[in-house]
Amino acid sequence: MDAVQRQRILSAQRDAWRRHGYHPNALLWSSREVQERRFQVLFEMSGLQAGDSLLDVGCGFGDLAGWVERQGMPVNYTGIDLSPELLEEGRRRFPGIDLYEGDLFDFNPPPESYDWVWVSGTLNRNLDDGGDYARRVLARMFETCGKGMAFNLLDARNEWVAQRWDLQSFHPDEMETLAEGWSDCHAIRDDYLKGDFSLVVRKASGS
Ligand SMILES: C[S@@+](CC[C@H](N)C(=O)[O-])C[C@H]1O[C@@H](n2cnc3c(N)ncnc32)[C@H](O)[C@@H]1O
Repeated sequence: MDAVQRQRILSAQRDAWRRHGYHPNALLWSSREVQERRFQVLFEMSGLQAGDSLLDVGCGFGDLAGWVERQGMPVNYTGIDLSPELLEEGRRRFPGIDLYEGDLFDFNPPPESYDWVWVSGTLNRNLDDGGDYARRVLARMFETCGKGMAFNLLDARNEWVAQRWDLQSFHPDEMETLAEGWSDCHAIRDDYLKGDFSLVVRKASGS
């Protein structure tokens, strides 16, 4: 990600944080329900297990850590995000979880260093690069996971999504083809929220 792209995300997040404070709208989610619906789908699709390590790329406040805990699923959670404001609030809300500032390439985790690597909503902003940065993040996520990766993206087939210049969307077929190149073991869902789809890609040796 270049400096201009990073600045674009940082200033949008700062504005949203100032306007909304600790609220899903500060993450550009329309409601808590749509935020948590996405978590639920990734959870169901991945089959996350107690004791797994989970890296949440673009964690915002780290709400996923609280949500997973409420499902009665103790995991070793780590969140990374570009926004210092959101991370500071996250540390106040969820003391004891590991939150770090930066993107996946700044964080630079070793291969297979987390059981699961998840993304929810992180790659939805248009960075004017045709989605190249997002594709690089997804490839790096697959290298980083030991069991698998789970992510959602905006669906380019949706009319409302496609006409939003500020949003980056993808065609599910393209993502499935990408996933096939990484692993035979993958699954896709697009039946839970309009304009969104989720994919889980497992390492062949993963459970
Ligand atoms: C739609 S919000 C979702 C936050 C969180 N995943 C959730 O659902 O509660 C997107 C988040 O991704 C962060 N973000 C955007 N691009 C990022 C990147 N390349 N690396 C790390 N964080 C990023 C933003 O700062 C923001 O907090």
